[in-house]
Amino acid sequence: MKLKRTDYCGALRAADAGRTVTLAGWVQSYRDHGGVVFVDLRDRQGIAQVVFHPENAESYAVGRQLRHEDVVLVRGQVLHRASAAVNPKIPTGEIEITAHQLHVANKADTLPFSPAQHDAVNEDTRLKYRYLDLRGRAMAEALAVRHRVTKIMRDYCDAHGFLEIETPMLYKSTPEGAREFLVPSRNSPGEFYALPQSPQLFKQVLMVAGMDRYMQIARCFRDEDLRADRQPEFTQLDLEMSFVDRQDVIDLITGLLVRLWKDVLGIDLPTPFPQMSWQEAMDRFGTDRPDTRYGMELLDISDIAVKSDFAVFRSAVADGGRVKMICVPGGAVLTRKQLDALTDDARKFGAKGLAWVKLGGEAGAGAMGGPIAKFVSHELQAAIRERLAAKDGDLLLAVADKQAIGWRVLGEIRQILARQLNLIPTDKHNFLWVVDFPSFERDPAAGRLIARHHPFTAPLDEDLSKLDAHAEAVRAKAYDIVLNGIEIGGGSIRIHQRELQSKIFSMLGISPEEAEKKFAFLLDALRFGAPPHGGIALGLDRLIMLMLNRQSIRDVIAFPKTQSGSDLMTGAPSAAESRQLLELGLAVLSTQRTAKI
Ligand code: AMO
Ligand code: AMP
Repeated sequence: MKLKRTDYCGALRAADAGRTVTLAGWVQSYRDHGGVVFVDLRDRQGIAQVVFHPENAESYAVGRQLRHEDVVLVRGQVLHRASAAVNPKIPTGEIEITAHQLHVANKADTLPFSPAQHDAVNEDTRLKYRYLDLRGRAMAEALAVRHRVTKIMRDYCDAHGFLEIETPMLYKSTPEGAREFLVPSRNSPGEFYALPQSPQLFKQVLMVAGMDRYMQIARCFRDEDLRADRQPEFTQLDLEMSFVDRQDVIDLITGLLVRLWKDVLGIDLPTPFPQMSWQEAMDRFGTDRPDTRYGMELLDISDIAVKSDFAVFRSAVADGGRVKMICVPGGAVLTRKQLDALTDDARKFGAKGLAWVKLGGEAGAGAMGGPIAKFVSHELQAAIRERLAAKDGDLLLAVADKQAIGWRVLGEIRQILARQLNLIPTDKHNFLWVVDFPSFERDPAAGRLIARHHPFTAPLDEDLSKLDAHAEAVRAKAYDIVLNGIEIGGGSIRIHQRELQSKIFSMLGISPEEAEKKFAFLLDALRFGAPPHGGIALGLDRLIMLMLNRQSIRDVIAFPKTQSGSDLMTGAPSAAESRQLLELGLAVLSTQRTAKI
């Protein structure tokens, strides 16, 4: 009889006992226990134990020959395991299948690694044989959750009146700030498409087109330096809405995240999520994506520091800088070596140094110890202790520098120490909306203004009057959603008037000619009846990574690229054939990695 699967291995439970089932899967492991052969059979859903008894001579004989990752179909009866044999660690641990019939669909060669070894195998090997890695529990679970999350996103958006609309991959240019991937055009030699960094301009045009609410699970492409939470191609839940304000978008996305956490993780999130201005986030945490699961907030002690005898502090403030400090609870235990390492970190992030004092300990109860303690009078020491709410056993760290450097350095040091000293509670899901970002920042190299989000973001109405004289003080109708210190999404209310859009372009140094060349379609669209609109994009990969507590977005993407942007399974990127280059009118100048031009 030809075998046809009736059940997934991983779906069988005690209630199935007595049923005759046919399973199809891969041999994860096999054991010959004195005349009885046990096989762990795996499929997408999990593992079931199959037992081959000698009484079933034919299947027993074949069963004995099974080896790792052979593909088999097996028919048999589901039985309760003897109580001593129950395995509470797996969902199918109460049952086993006594095999009556076995068909080997394919034998497997000796493997580079077993899918069960996900954690023990180096990542390059897992990426090269990705299909083996995906067979294991960790990846199968990640892909299943990913599917569930996008399904809930689509259902949620559908229920809120969104249309899912696809936008092109071969496109012109999207100004999200990263380098673009270019695709040569055969029909127009010497001309190129760019892969979209996001569907930003298309979704705005869709609003002008009257679509009212657009959503897409969109692939985005950015040729950036890669990190654990960045890939050159990644996925967004991208959406845009007409006739809304900031709070409408914030409420919609909050509702979606609450639904996801409830339906996928079984967790009730308290709402509304807190909101914090960009200014407050920077002042308190030194970053625009604060991890609010722990304290060690930055405090400004400039007013106290100028009264000290420490020349570094006094001159920094005299030069218009600030003295910022954090209190590390219990940090006085750090050794000189650890403090030197922290100082090196601080220098890496741009500081000239890192001042530290230890409270209590060797210095004596109530006293301060460390190289700079002698420059700070008792009175000032007391004032510092009070401002930082510090006590004996704590460590105080200070940076005296320009405000932006103090933020950056202590913001990073705070995160390093929280990890090092295990101060991060792992059971918290701290969502935070960061709002009122500055519209612009000054490019330190070129000295010109650049858009902090993107050039289509509308300024706050009350700040419009500052556009000419105080551009850097203008705040934007922009918002980021942050989870446990990671930015999982960002968006804004857009400019929907052509005059304002042209003005912002010119402030950003985009000449009318360049604006016309790059964005004529948008500027035209804004003339022909553009509704007020705004939207947001959530980074899907980061979201799933955080939901599953994984360390890297590569662990939630089926076929990710390495840090250097290669696909180890297929070998991409690879050289093109000269015939292809000729067709495209291209010549490769050098295969050396080109230095920055
Ligand atoms: P933004 O550039 O902030 O906004 O991107 C939105 C979210 O996408 C995720 N993300 C990434 N994830 C993985 N790898 C990357 N290289 C990567 N880059 C970004 C982040 C980020 O928060 N068009 C605007 C959205 C809008 O204004 O509506 C945009 O793309 O989680
Ligand atoms: P120095 O006088 O350069 O030997 O520095 C004395 C201490 O102050 C060292 O611990 C330095 O790391 C620290 N330090 C130097 N410059 C700064 C600064 N700008 N902010 C904070 N600490 C500093």
